[in-house]
Amino acid sequence: MKQRTALVTGANRGIGLAIATGLAEQGLRVLTAARTRARAQEAAEQVGGIAVELDLSVPRHVEAIAAGLEDEHGPIDILVNNAGVMPPGSALEATVEQLEDTLNVNAVSAFALIRAVGPAMKERKWGRIVNVSSGWGSFASGLGGPFAYSVSKATLNAITHTSARALGPHVKVNSVCPGWVRTRMGGMDATRSVEEGADTPIWLATLPDDGPTGGFFRRRQRIDW
Ligand SMILES: NC(=O)c1ccc[n+]([C@@H]2O[C@H](COP(=O)([O-])OP(=O)(O)OC[C@H]3O[C@@H](n4cnc5c(N)ncnc54)[C@H](OP(=O)(O)O)[C@@H]3O)[C@@H](O)[C@H]2O)c1
Repeated sequence: MKQRTALVTGANRGIGLAIATGLAEQGLRVLTAARTRARAQEAAEQVGGIAVELDLSVPRHVEAIAAGLEDEHGPIDILVNNAGVMPPGSALEATVEQLEDTLNVNAVSAFALIRAVGPAMKERKWGRIVNVSSGWGSFASGLGGPFAYSVSKATLNAITHTSARALGPHVKVNSVCPGWVRTRMGGMDATRSVEEGADTPIWLATLPDDGPTGGFFRRRQRIDW
């Protein structure tokens, strides 16, 4: 079988680095995307992948860069939208600027990447898209996190749901909550290692052809939106 190529955002640390490592260990060609060239390069060396500089702060820039990604690196079969930010504050404390910035990184840039690689996946009749979301983006669980973060992850979940429908049965698009994971974002009291947090994202990134699409998962089990 031909070697598949995976693009992982925020691949330089935390869960993203563990996802990139796990995919490379399975024999995939991994594009390690990170905010700066130096961080992407460091991750590429660690993982045995290829560095891609990709700052997700400005979705229009992401759109422009993403349009040339397949020309430079060939077809992208798997996209893992992992990068994320989590500013603190409730709906009464957060600012408009914070909400905009958080939506841009966590949701709109993820959409820009889906928009860039999804149609070709659909045409090739094979693709896997994993949106790393959070239980805090779940209406069913009460959108319990900091305001901008929860709103952005609920938005990302909506992007998963609608993109899965548009991309059809051969492109599996799913959201995942990695659980509470020991990273800079999760803090050192968190209950799960980065490898444990990366398990369900890796599973979704490598789903068989009869695997699910348009779902939300934690520990390989479907959870409520
Ligand atoms: N840890 C948890 O308990 C937990 C729970 C639920 C969901 N999640 C989700 O899991 C994903 C990974 O989180 P993590 O815990 O591994 O967090 P982390 O250690 O803080 O890593 C976040 C990653 O996102 C990247 N990033 C942030 N802003 C970026 C930007 N503008 N452009 C490009 N990259 C950017 C960071 O790059 P820099 O190094 O350049 O900042 C870093 O690689 C996130 O989507 C998060 O919301 C985590």
